[in-house]
Amino acid sequence: MADFDLSGLKKNLFPIWAVAACMLLGSTTGAWADEDLELAWKYHCVTCHGVTGLADSDRYPNIAGQNVGYLVSRLNYFRDGQEPGNQMNAQAAALSDEDIQRLAEYFSRQAN
Ligand code: HEC
Repeated sequence: MADFDLSGLKKNLFPIWAVAACMLLGSTTGAWADEDLELAWKYHCVTCHGVTGLADSDRYPNIAGQNVGYLVSRLNYFRDGQEPGNQMNAQAAALSDEDIQRLAEYFSRQAN
């Protein structure tokens, strides 16, 4: 028993655990991000602002990497119809508070 050395076994097993941990973390954050992206598709945000918040056309603002608080306040402003005639009013009309928070967080974590 005394001369049974586990160190070699531990050394060989370590990478397996590291890979498993990375896969677990990767898939969890991936699924989370995808759900928020689905919301952006559902409400057509991606049509004008792009999948990653970088607009295809200069008619639309880039919102990638913007602060969460700023995006939330802009979306509330549009949803409340504070600027009559703004194209965003109709886009924000159906959003719940939770939708606004999640969409703001989604676009905020994109690289700009
Ligand atoms: C039909 C095109 C269109 C769609 C769809 C659209 N937007 Fe917009 N969005 C615009 C335009 C145009 C502006 C600029 C409005 C302005 O100048 O005040 C804007 C502005 C914004 C702003 C403010 C940016 C800033 O810098 O102040 C945010 C945030 C935003 N949109 C988020 C969204 C989200 C989230 C969705 C999905 C729910 C969405 N938009 C859907 C066209 C669109």
